[in-house]
This record gives sequence, structure tokens and C-alpha cells, in this order.
Amino acid sequence: MEKLVIKGPTPLKGEIKINGAKNAAVAILPATLLIDGICTLDNLPHISDVMISCEILEKLGAKITWNTKNCITIDTRHIDTTQTPLDLTSKFRASYYMIGSMLGRKGEIEVGMPGGCQLGARPIDQHIKGFEMLGATVSVGNGVIYAKADSLVGNSIYMDIVSVGATINIMLAAVLAKGTTTIDNAAKEPHVVDVANFLNAMGADIRGAGTDIIKINGVDRLNGNSTYSVVPDQIEAGTFMLAAVATKGDLLIKNCITKHLDSITAKIVEVGGIVEDFGDSLHVYCNHRPSKANIKTLPYPGFPTDLQPQMGVVLALADGTSIINESIWESRFQYTQELNKMGAQITAQGKTAIFEGVETLSGSPVCSTDLRAGAALIIAGTAANGVTEVHNLEHIDRGYEDIEEKFRSIGAQINRIKT
Ligand code: EPU
Repeated sequence: MEKLVIKGPTPLKGEIKINGAKNAAVAILPATLLIDGICTLDNLPHISDVMISCEILEKLGAKITWNTKNCITIDTRHIDTTQTPLDLTSKFRASYYMIGSMLGRKGEIEVGMPGGCQLGARPIDQHIKGFEMLGATVSVGNGVIYAKADSLVGNSIYMDIVSVGATINIMLAAVLAKGTTTIDNAAKEPHVVDVANFLNAMGADIRGAGTDIIKINGVDRLNGNSTYSVVPDQIEAGTFMLAAVATKGDLLIKNCITKHLDSITAKIVEVGGIVEDFGDSLHVYCNHRPSKANIKTLPYPGFPTDLQPQMGVVLALADGTSIINESIWESRFQYTQELNKMGAQITAQGKTAIFEGVETLSGSPVCSTDLRAGAALIIAGTAANGVTEVHNLEHIDRGYEDIEEKFRSIGAQINRIKT
């Protein structure tokens, strides 16, 4: 077991380089199963969800060569089984992308019920509806999902809710289907676009990703033989933007797509921070106490739920009373109890939390209840007076590469300690 020990307060200052996006990488890796060939993936974040994805691909028959810490070459010419290791697939959420990919590649797949952060109910009915509309049969039982299709045929699929996972999964299943598939009310997140760009680079014919109607014209084969670089992580960039504001710091955040961060920039400006946009980098600073703001999380281009806890730290320290309305996940306020241990005054009920801003937080032992909660607690520990211990690091390591090295490089006094 490990914990992070942080001594604050430290205004974070300096430059930080953003890695490739976790939520794009964990979809692109399964997407390589659709390729009857070899491809190279660059800018892959070195995080545990990526490692587990690679392990599953190898168990299915893929051959992976690590060129550098962030670049692999993957040969998916010989995929010889349709059974994934159930213990591995149930370890993280994105294992559900094996279903769309393997339906396309082999017409059959068995995976463990996806795990991941406990954010409330995480149904997959829209994924299943999509697979069935393409001609697959899907059964769920005993913690296992089994899907089979003799052939997949394109169809028009209307999504009842905007779902990142279902949009990507249906896109994966449709790439090698016969005819045209249309996904209506599709998710528009940057990682949805990135998966489509990856598949198109490998030979697919997907149009409209990034809008709410995606059209996939089925092709016979994906050839690969190409190198693809994963899009910079919108959420990692937003995490450091908010860390700059919460700690009254000054950061140059490099290797990001600033357009993807518009909703965060708008809120930082609203609370009194400054954001300078250089196209592929952002200069974010705030030398005073932030002011209050209200937030409602929404699908892209709205304010992302995956930055709600980090924004919560800013509002916990803000001058005045703020309200966050979480519209995606019903249990994403667990971190507020941890912040309250540090002296925050937050009342959370259902999907709403009221933040009575306090001037300072004080260090305390806290528990990372999920991935983004963990990032928020590191920010809080850096802003707080005294020593904060963050426990349950396995959540954080699933999604942030070298998090403590990165925070240390911009001034944080942070150490990982074995307990
Ligand atoms: N939903 C359904 N039925 C479905 C699918 C989703 O009702 O079949 C509901 C969910 O319960 C939720 C909403 O639709 O209320 C949106 O869920 P979505 O499917 O978009 O979420 P996801 O694909 O499971 C991804 C990210 C999450 C991120 C959400 C929302 C990955 C691996 N995970 O989850 O990331 O919060 O989109 O943007 O891409 C994180 O990185 O910390 C994280 C939790």
C-alpha cells in the first residue's frame, strides 16, 4: 500500500507537459483488434488502465513491442481466442470496448462485467441496444457479458442518452459491418473524435465525429501500417489549470488542445483567474482568492464531470457560496466528505452540493474515493496548510502518469511513501 504525503501550502509555478488522453487510449487499444495488421501508437499515457488493456490484448493474441515508455507497436494479425481474462476485464471500465471491437473482428466475445470508479449506477443498456440493432445477441449474467453476431449489418441507432462509451462502442462494432450505420444523439467528447480519427487513419470510413450524428460506412478490412498519436488529455490539462487557481499559482500548461478546455477557461475567468491561450499551450494564473461560481456538469462541450471534483477544490476555497449540480454521475460528491475533513464547508445531497467557501484548508489524512477525487485531494493538499496524506492511490494511478513527479516539478512538496 502506498500513500502520498503533501506539505502545503505551495503556489504551483512552472511548466507542465500534458500526456495523451486516458479515455482515448483505453478505447484506441481495443480498437486495434479491428486491424488485420500492425500499427504504432504514440503519446500513450503510461498509466495502469493502459497496462491492463495491453495485457488483455496480449492474452487475445496481439503482439506488443514497447518502443518507448509512451509508444508501442502492436501486431493484431493473429487474434486466436474470443475469451478475455475475466479478472482483468472486470478491473476497469473501458474493458467494455473489447465487446464492440471483438464483435467486429471475430463476431464473438466474452468479457467480465466492467469495473472502474464507483460513481453510482453505470448501466450499459445503450451499448447493448446498439449491438443488438447491428444484429448481435447479447446476454449478461454471473458477472459476464457474452456477445455474438453471425454478421453485423449497419442500422440507424438513436441514443436515448448522450453516452461516450456507447457512442464509441457502437462505432467500433460498425466499422467492419455491412452497409452504413448512423448514430444519432452521439457524444461529442474529444476522445470520441480521437477514436474516429484513429480508425479512419487505419482505413475506416467514419464521418461526423464531434457532431451529434456520426455516420459509419462499413469497410471490408482495416490495414493498419500507420502510426497514430493519441490526443492530449483534456482532463489532465484541466486538472493542472484548476490546480494553478486553487493554489494561487502560475502554470504554463503545454501540449494541450486549448479549444477542448473552453468550458474550464470560462469558469476560471469567472472566478477571477487569468488564462492566456497560445493554441497548443495555456498560461493560467491567479494571485488572489477565487470568487464563487455555479457549475453544472454536462456532456461536451459543457463543463466535464471529470473536472467537477478539481473545480470543487477551487470553490471550497472561494469567496462566497457556490453550487455544483452534477448531472452525469449520482455519486460524484464522495470527495466532499474528504474535503470537509480538511476544513471545507460543503453540503452535498443527491446531485447538488453547496460550497460555503473558506479562506484556508488544513492538512488531514484523506481517502481518494475515485480517480478524479484523488486528483482533487492532491490539489487540496497542495493548497492546504500543513500535512495531507492521500490514501487509495490505485485510483489515481489508473489515470494520471507520474502524478507526484509532475506536481513536484512545479513546486509541490509531495512524496509517495509505502505504508
Ligand atoms: N448511461 C446509461 N446507459 C448506458 C451508458 C451510459 O444510462 O448504456 C448513463 C450513465 O449512467 C451516465 C451517462 O449516461 O449517467 C453518461 O455515461 P457515459 O456512457 O458517457 O460514461 P462512460 O462512457 O461510462 C466515460 C468516461 C468517464 C466519464 C464519462 C462522462 C471512459 C473510460 N470513462 O464513461 O470517465 O466520466 O464518460 O464523460 O471514457 C474518468 O475518467 O474519471 C471517468 C469516470
